[in-house]
Order: sequence, then structure tokens, then C-alpha cells
Amino acid sequence: MLQRGNALSRKFKSILVTGGAGFIGSEFVRQAVKKRYEVLVVDKLTYAGDLERLKSVEGKYKFFKSDICNEKKIRDIFKREKPDAVAHFAAETHVDRSITDATPFMKTNVIGTQSVFSSALAAGVKKIVHISTDEIYGEIRKGKFTENSPIAPNSPYSASKAAADMLAKAYFRTYALPVVIARPSNNYGPWQFPEKLIPVIIKNALENRKVPVYAKGENVREWLYVCDCAEAIFAILEKGDPGQAYNIGSGQERKNIEVVKSVLKIMGKSEKLIEFVKDRPGHDFRYSLNIGKIKKRLGWKAKTGFGEGIKRTVRWYEANRRWLRKSLNA
Ligand SMILES: NC(=O)c1ccc[n+]([C@@H]2O[C@H](COP(=O)([O-])OP(=O)(O)OC[C@H]3O[C@@H](n4cnc5c(N)ncnc54)[C@H](O)[C@@H]3O)[C@@H](O)[C@H]2O)c1
Repeated sequence: MLQRGNALSRKFKSILVTGGAGFIGSEFVRQAVKKRYEVLVVDKLTYAGDLERLKSVEGKYKFFKSDICNEKKIRDIFKREKPDAVAHFAAETHVDRSITDATPFMKTNVIGTQSVFSSALAAGVKKIVHISTDEIYGEIRKGKFTENSPIAPNSPYSASKAAADMLAKAYFRTYALPVVIARPSNNYGPWQFPEKLIPVIIKNALENRKVPVYAKGENVREWLYVCDCAEAIFAILEKGDPGQAYNIGSGQERKNIEVVKSVLKIMGKSEKLIEFVKDRPGHDFRYSLNIGKIKKRLGWKAKTGFGEGIKRTVRWYEANRRWLRKSLNA
């Protein structure tokens, strides 16, 4: 899973990664270590954070257990460690949880992001990439969102991420914070917490339980393999222009029902496991990203097709059932 890299391709000396014990953040940390960056991880270790994701790079990063909302502590870490660059992943990320209780989303994703931005500014970091999401644009029935599409979020999760995205623009314009915005589509791959669609399908199918699918499974998402996403975030951090936003998509659109059927097929399980359940309130129908900007300006494009990525993902979960069980019991 680790990518090739060496010290010569390094743009900065040190990178502070918030949310580095999470799904995408941990892949970014593994790649950063491989590229020989000095890596500092700041993570609160919520239910979604787990240092086991970083066991392959143990001893090769510094860890600070901290809530990004604790601005004094975050400022102290920045002041003491003086990172050159920052990748800000830490967030509450599950839409269904945001519908049940939006408060932690507003705290971490908005107030926490402001604390990270103000600490980065005070410490004079050279570059910071803020990880936003395609969900800030709302849904699109036809066509694709460009970076100039209006911001029109529909869930408490995406509203909190939209606020953070706008805060990034405000910090660039008002204080000249060298912040670049990354807007990835739906990620999948090893180590994703088993509350998101793909690991939920795999977990239930492994136990021969029903696989819940919202409504008729017609909603469309653009599936991006996590290693490709982390590579795109490096391209944005190293080469992106401050004040700019970059979409990160794969062009691999699938209806949810197609995703479920592909996973069941790879696992040799019956489609009879599928159970249609009441739709999520306010469920966005489709997201789709135009990635002309990152392709043309930064030379990045996704390498992993959905067929290949989903096979690798299923095989990984099959081989890591202990982690799956541990995550659910934590
Ligand atoms: N997963 C996706 O499909 C996807 C798509 C687009 C954008 N994103 C964005 O990418 C980022 C990473 O997503 P992910 O799927 O890896 O998330 P995740 O839920 O797997 O990990 C989030 C990490 O942040 C940490 N964290 C949460 N609250 C914190 C706080 N208050 N202080 C410090 N650490 C805290 C958690 O402990 C965890 O390690 C998020 O900003 C998310 O909005 C994710």
C-alpha cells in the first residue's frame, strides 16, 4: 500500500498531520514516512481514531494525543514543534451520526479547524492543506461540479465541512495563511471504520447478515481509492497554489446497489443478503467531480480502477477480521 518515494522528492522537512490516526490521514502518514518527511501526528483518538493503523510506521512519527478544539494545547504544539507544513484531516466524518447529533460536528469541524488555522498562522507554517469534501457542493443530478460550483451543503456533516472550507478561504484572504483546499470524493480502501458503506457491506456479508441499503440503492457516488487520494493530497500540499481549491475524483461512479453487488460477488455471497431500508433523511442523490484542474495544473490522476480497488479492499478486510471486530467493540 505504501508508495515509492525518497528524500529528494521532499518539498518540506516536517509535516504535522491532524487526524493522522484516521482512515485517510493514516494512509497519508504512511506515505509521508516513506517519502522521509518528519511526521507529527495530532489526534484525539475518538471512536474513529486508532494508532493500529500506523503500526507499520511505528517509531517513525511523533504522536500528540490532543483535541484540536483545545486551542491553547494546539498552539503550544505548533510553537514547540515548528512544522513546515500541515495536512488537516481531523474531523467528525459520518453523515448518519451528524443527523443524530450535529454538535460534535460543529465543534470539531468548525471550531477545531479555526484552532488549527490560527495555530498554523501564529507558527508561520509554509503551507497547509485543508481536507474538505465533495459533499460541500450538495447533490448534482447531471454533469459535474467544478471548483467554482456554488457551495450548497445538505447534511449537518457537509454544512460543518462547508463552514470549514469557507474559513480556509477567509484565512487566506484576511491573514494570507498559505492554505490550499482539497475536495476529495468518497474514499474506500483498507482501514476504513466499519460504519461507512463498503466496510459495512463486507462486515455483514462475512457474518452472513443482511446488508442494509438505503432506499433502492440508486444513489451515485464517485469512488476514490484511499492511496490515490493521499497521493493527490501530497500533490496539492507540495504544488497547489494557496487560496485555491482542487477537486479530487476518480471518474469511477457507481450506484450504491452496484457497489453492494460487486462486493457480494467478490466474496461469493448471495444477493439475497441485500435488505432495502428507509432512506437517510436529506440523502444527496449524486456527487460527481470535474478534475480538470488538478490534472492540468498538478499533474495528478487516480491510478486505481474500481474493480481493482474493491478487490484489494475486500481481501484486506477478510485478512483483518480481528481489527474489524475490535473496531466495532471499542
Ligand atoms: N472518507 C471519505 O470518503 C472522505 C471523503 C472526502 C473528504 N473526507 C475528509 O477527509 C478527512 C479524513 O476523513 P476520514 O474518513 O479519514 O475520517 P475518519 O473518521 O476515519 O478519521 C478522523 C480522524 O480525526 C480524529 N479526530 C476527530 N475529532 C478530533 C478532534 N476534535 N481533535 C483531534 N482529532 C480528532 C479521529 O480520532 C480520527 O483519527 C475528513 O476531514 C473528512 O471530512 C473524507
